[in-house]
Amino acid sequence: MPGAMPIMRLRHFAYALAAVPLSLLCAAESGEDVLSAGSFTVTATDATAFTQPAPALSERQHAAFLRGRAGFERPWVVFGISTGDWGVGPTFIANRCGECHAGGGRGKLPRSANEQLTALVVRVSVPGTDPHGGPKPHERYGDQLQNRALQGQNPDLQFAYAPVPAEADIFLDWEEHVVTLSDGTEVRLRSPVLSIEGLAFGDLGKDTMQSLRIAPPVFGTGLLEAVPDETLLALAEQQKALGFNGRPNKVWDAIDQRMVIGRFGWKASQPGLRQQIAAAAINDMGVTSSVFPRQNCPAVQVDCQREIPGNDPELTDAAWDDLDVAALGVGVPARRRWSEAIVQRGASLFETLQCGVCHAPTLRTADYFARLPQLSRQTIHPYTDLLLHDMGEGLADHRPEFAAGGRDWRTPPLWGLGLSRTVNGSAALLHDGRARNATEAILWHGGEAAPSRDAFSRLMQKDREALLAFLDAI
Ligand code: HEC
Ligand code: HEC
Repeated sequence: MPGAMPIMRLRHFAYALAAVPLSLLCAAESGEDVLSAGSFTVTATDATAFTQPAPALSERQHAAFLRGRAGFERPWVVFGISTGDWGVGPTFIANRCGECHAGGGRGKLPRSANEQLTALVVRVSVPGTDPHGGPKPHERYGDQLQNRALQGQNPDLQFAYAPVPAEADIFLDWEEHVVTLSDGTEVRLRSPVLSIEGLAFGDLGKDTMQSLRIAPPVFGTGLLEAVPDETLLALAEQQKALGFNGRPNKVWDAIDQRMVIGRFGWKASQPGLRQQIAAAAINDMGVTSSVFPRQNCPAVQVDCQREIPGNDPELTDAAWDDLDVAALGVGVPARRRWSEAIVQRGASLFETLQCGVCHAPTLRTADYFARLPQLSRQTIHPYTDLLLHDMGEGLADHRPEFAAGGRDWRTPPLWGLGLSRTVNGSAALLHDGRARNATEAILWHGGEAAPSRDAFSRLMQKDREALLAFLDAI
């Protein structure tokens, strides 16, 4: 590779410029690789770090990527309004992908206990399963509470429609407790207390299970989809030998009409990005698609069922394709401060503490991935195994999803962690956003990860700082 650069100079470049040519990054003269995601690595470290097109895209793909990225940000509106795409609601939670995944990053928590949830959803279900082994929806509320709905006549519109009731108002408060590390340091941990008020169709009932989920970051997901199933199964095997119990979820693929390994969502209940996008459209925004053509209106919700003019389906296949290319083709920020001694010390602690058993540092994508061939044969550093792990009672939602039990969660990727706040101000970690930083997130680990957590709480402060510096750099 031309013009090998010393890593120090490279770092200055990476900080100074939004987009350093990839060839400079490849030229990094360092024993360790700063490329997080092969030719999908990008160098932006500002608010755009999670929404950059991968350098590997062709001109045509790049154009589709830009259309998809614009679609991610454009609001869904009611028929007749010219400022967005027609089809929001009748009930919904947010009106565009970017309202929840701002800047492609984590959801933002409500600023106070008086502000309704937007970037978090509340899944509900009752005991039993649906015909495919998934959660059984609540008869009157479906499988996710919708806290917004079309409000009725809008003076800008040519036609009138009756208002639709939102299913509930949802507020979030916190309960704190203190844990003490071996060296006496006190850390305050908080867990969510949900208030579900104004339920429009009666009580949820005592058997109803709930699960609060925050919007996760959405970059790098194409690479994770391109990791072969066999890799995940092999990881699960290797973990058994170490006393861990990582397992893939097995979920319903509504597009191909068969059971497959799940990869996306906090319990890995979505098989792939195409379905994830269409599921987000219908469940979070009330937008129909060719795979989910029916509005989300349980039988008792008669106002919801009234026909509203508009496109059918609301998300056209062409717009769906563009969103898919945007999800597949987005880049992953390069590692930062990689050559610093403290980061390297953190990397070795990450291994010693067995964090990397679940947060697998290195994966390789398939030899051939048809939907976006550039995703093939990439060596990536996502820090996930995409497997489910028992994380203990403290994190449990007691709401199974396919093969995922009430204490199981999918290991989330850790790449880009240190840029979360820069991207959109939110560094809310764990499935419900309860952890305010990595220390809190680690201290919530239980179940299979309890030994790692305990080893972390026994570290000297200097070593804790090294581990955190590493997490910030990956
Ligand atoms: C109301 C907020 C909200 C909206 C709107 C929303 N999402 Fe999400 N998104 C979430 C939540 C919450 C999850 C996690 C769901 C779960 O655990 O099952 C998620 C998960 C995802 C994931 C999986 C990421 C991973 O690593 O597992 C992707 C990809 C995604 N959303 C893309 C989109 C796209 C594209 C849109 C627009 C079509 C969209 N989302 C709209 C809240 C939202
Ligand atoms: C047994 C597997 C396992 C081990 C070991 C493990 N983790 Fe995790 N980690 C998870 C899972 C699963 C979650 C998600 C839990 C949730 O959301 O409730 C998680 C979440 C996290 C998060 C929050 C990420 C996010 O996007 O919200 C961080 C940070 C993290 N782990 C760091 C570590 C570190 C550091 C170690 C070692 C001290 C470690 N983990 C050990 C499985 C593991």
